[in-house]
Amino acid sequence: MTDVILETKNLTKEFKGFTAVSKVNLQIQRGHIHALIGPNGAGKTTCFNLLTKFLVPSSGQILFNGRDITMAPPAQIARSGIIRSFQISAVFPHLSVMENVRIGLQRSLGTSFHFWKSGSSLSQLNDRAMALLEEVDLASFADTITVDLPYGRKRALEIATTLAMEPELMLLDEPTQGMGHEDVDRVTALIKKVSAGRTILMVEHNMAVISGICDRISVLQRGALLAEGTYEQVSKNPQVMEAYMGTTATELQGAH
Ligand SMILES: Nc1ncnc2c1ncn2[C@@H]1O[C@H](COP(=O)(O)OP(=O)(O)OP(=O)(O)O)[C@@H](O)[C@H]1O
Ligand SMILES: [Mg+2]
Repeated sequence: MTDVILETKNLTKEFKGFTAVSKVNLQIQRGHIHALIGPNGAGKTTCFNLLTKFLVPSSGQILFNGRDITMAPPAQIARSGIIRSFQISAVFPHLSVMENVRIGLQRSLGTSFHFWKSGSSLSQLNDRAMALLEEVDLASFADTITVDLPYGRKRALEIATTLAMEPELMLLDEPTQGMGHEDVDRVTALIKKVSAGRTILMVEHNMAVISGICDRISVLQRGALLAEGTYEQVSKNPQVMEAYMGTTATELQGAH
């Protein structure tokens, strides 16, 4: 028996007759880091938008912990524990790193306003924020104004504000995009670290990152699932190599 946290059944999204996601059957195992890969325009981001209900599926089903959440509104999806990493723009650039994490924590507590009136709960909030900063190795940047953070550290802050929402399943869309080597290595190690006790589904283009930390990989091509398996299996799949022809076929083979 496998423990599936998230499953899609024939998940489909059409935009005015164009099928961006076509009958996709995903099975994400609890505790895994699962990669969703595929060429540009394959439907990866659309899939994420369907899972968080930013977009409504045209047909198909989404099951989270065995429950059908296909019709659940975005706020309920988030409350149930599926959290997508905020984009950098969602972090307040002119507040300190600490303040951003505190806001993330407050947001996760939603409407429980009375909580914030007592001084002791405020110091609990500060303690929790500091613990999150330590978890993502940003404690020494607590008082830094966010706009002054190096790029890779901003992504770490995004991960901290996502962790503040206590995700059971964390969705990361291209977490290492636009980074230099050092930042890629640091954020990759961070994702591995925060995956403990959680499940992560990530869209990623960097094959070294995928081969390094991902347990399983699903490959999309033109909206449809092309292959699924471990890095070893997927990277040897002739159809996958064909789909990545030219640009990344060598990367697929050479990442180790
Ligand atoms: N709102 C929309 N209306 C019409 N077409 C859309 C819409 N959103 C996405 N598409 C199309 O759906 C397809 C899949 O797009 P999507 O952004 O999911 O791809 P992706 O795999 O994330 O690509 P990339 O690697 O470039 O980020 C593309 O052809 C895109 O043009
Ligand atoms: Mg995308």
